[in-house]
Amino acid sequence: MRVVIQDDYEKMSLWAAHYIAAKINAHKEDRPFVLGLPTGSSPIGVYRELARMNNAGELCFANVVTFNMDEYLGLPREHDQSYWYFMHDNFFDHLVDMKSENINILNGMTDDPEGECARYEEKIASYGGIDLFMGGIGVDGHLAFNEPYTSLSSRTGLRDLTTDTRIVNSRFFGNDPEKVPAQALSVGIGTVTDAREVLVLISGHNKARALAATVEGGVSQKWTCSALQLHNAAIIACDEAACGELTVDTYKYFLDIEKEERL
Ligand code: GLP
Repeated sequence: MRVVIQDDYEKMSLWAAHYIAAKINAHKEDRPFVLGLPTGSSPIGVYRELARMNNAGELCFANVVTFNMDEYLGLPREHDQSYWYFMHDNFFDHLVDMKSENINILNGMTDDPEGECARYEEKIASYGGIDLFMGGIGVDGHLAFNEPYTSLSSRTGLRDLTTDTRIVNSRFFGNDPEKVPAQALSVGIGTVTDAREVLVLISGHNKARALAATVEGGVSQKWTCSALQLHNAAIIACDEAACGELTVDTYKYFLDIEKEERL
C-alpha cells in the first residue's frame, strides 16, 4: 500500500485529481476507462480540479464510464441529499463531454434492491471491471456503506447504516439522525478491491483513527477499510491532519518513500 501525505486538503485533492487524470489520459485501449466514484466532502476538491482540467481541455471524459459507490435507499434523484443529486451538482454537470449514458448510480428508489445490486455487479463486469476506484472513508473506517463487520468479500447489496453513521451524516439532514435513511445500496468491499487500482482520500483530524487502522492495524472486518492492505495497488492520499494517530516511524517512512509526490 502507498500512503501519500500532503500538507492539507487542497494539496491532497490536487495530487489525487492529477493522479486520476494521468491514468485517464494514459488509457489507450479501445474499451472505456472505468472509474469508481464516491460522494462526501472528501472528494469535492478532486471533482473541482478534474472539472477544471476538463473545461481547460486537459482531460477528456468522452471515453470514461463511471460507477458510484453507493446511494441512500428511498431518496429520489431530485432529493438534494441523494447521491445522484450530489454527483451531478458537484461533478457531472460541470463536465463538458461526460455522456449521461456512461454514468452509473445505484437506484435508491428501486422496489427490487437485490435485483438492482445484482445488475450493477453484472454491468461492472460487462465493462471488464473497474480500472480505478476512488473512495473516501467514514470515521469508523467504512468504505462506501460497508459498516464495521461487513464481510471483507462482500458484493453490492443492501446495507443497514449504523446509528453512528446516521449521526455523522445528519449534518446534511438538518442535524436530525432520524431523517437520514436507515438503509443504503452499496458496492461491497470485494467490489472495491476487485478494481485494478484503489485510491482512497482521507482528510482531517476526525479520520485519524481510521487512517491508522487502515494502514497500521491488522486486516479486520471491524475496520472494513483495512481490506485495502490485501490489494496490490492501493493508494491512500491523505493530509497532515489525518496522520495524528500514525506512529512516528510509519509517518516518517511514507514521507520519505513518497517525497517526490509532495506538492
Ligand atoms: C458516507 C459515504 C461514504 C463516504 C463517507 C465519508 O457515509 N457513504 O462513501 O466516504 O460518508 O464522507 P466524508 O468524505 O464527507 O467524510
